[in-house]
Amino acid sequence: MSEGKRIDGKAAAARIVDTVRQAVPALTNETGAPPGLAVVIVGEDPASQVYVASKAKMALECGFKSVKHVLPADTAEDDLLDLVRDLNADGSIHGILVQLPLPKQINATEVLREIDPSKDVDGFSPINAGLLATGSPEEAFVPCTPAGAMILLRDALGEDLSGRTAVVVGRSNIVGKPMAQLLLVANATVIVAHSRTKDLAALCRTADIVIAAVGRPEMIRGTDIKEGAVVIDVGINRIDAPERGEGKTRLVGDVAYDEAIERASAITPVPGGVGPMTIAMLMANTLTAAYRSAGLQPPRF
Ligand code: GUN
Repeated sequence: MSEGKRIDGKAAAARIVDTVRQAVPALTNETGAPPGLAVVIVGEDPASQVYVASKAKMALECGFKSVKHVLPADTAEDDLLDLVRDLNADGSIHGILVQLPLPKQINATEVLREIDPSKDVDGFSPINAGLLATGSPEEAFVPCTPAGAMILLRDALGEDLSGRTAVVVGRSNIVGKPMAQLLLVANATVIVAHSRTKDLAALCRTADIVIAAVGRPEMIRGTDIKEGAVVIDVGINRIDAPERGEGKTRLVGDVAYDEAIERASAITPVPGGVGPMTIAMLMANTLTAAYRSAGLQPPRF
């Protein structure tokens, strides 16, 4: 098994965070205030709490103003909308992130529509989704996970994916759909597969690039991977690991890594692949938002 095949998402993420961190002092000097990121979480979902805490912490480490709003699980939609409007109007806040999923009484679509598109560092608002879908990702905020996955892919294969076929497994608004759009912008030939797709394994075997974003532990096997393909595994699944002791768990992706690395030319591990890139791209998007609000040209990531 060749270690060279393992794509190091942690190292790539550290490079992005470094670029952000280095840009902050000059921007702060120029504008009189640091970039500001507000993260909002509703309820007590433990995984969401961990994600939101690490986003807020990383923002501080980048030299940002970092604000965290924790709302009770029974928060009314109108109250969340009011908070979003306040953050839209707050000049010290350049990026707003409302952690998903939201509790049942809140319509997430309505909330995402309320976020000022120029502060929508998650890229989930219809304006940003539309800019990406119409082929203008440089004007949009691109959702952090697919943006990070694209950087790893660019490191492996270069900017131009002309002539290459990509199968995206998963059609979510957060990953699958924006990923497919980004691959199209890079000239790949794209198939979006999902739970209703017939013979997914055969389809994956045709792909030069496999993007796995289904949330099913190790669903894609080594035999589903074409020799020499690049595999980007977006899945983060916690499974029981009795071999580590009673009650222990471990994280695995949507791809059976040990099998797939035997056939892939490059593959992201879980953990340590796409995961660290998501948070790094959130920092990059927040920095970009602050540059744009000052009428300045942001760095390219
Ligand atoms: N839930 C899962 N992934 C994400 C993400 O990237 N952003 C937000 N806001 N919520 C999420």
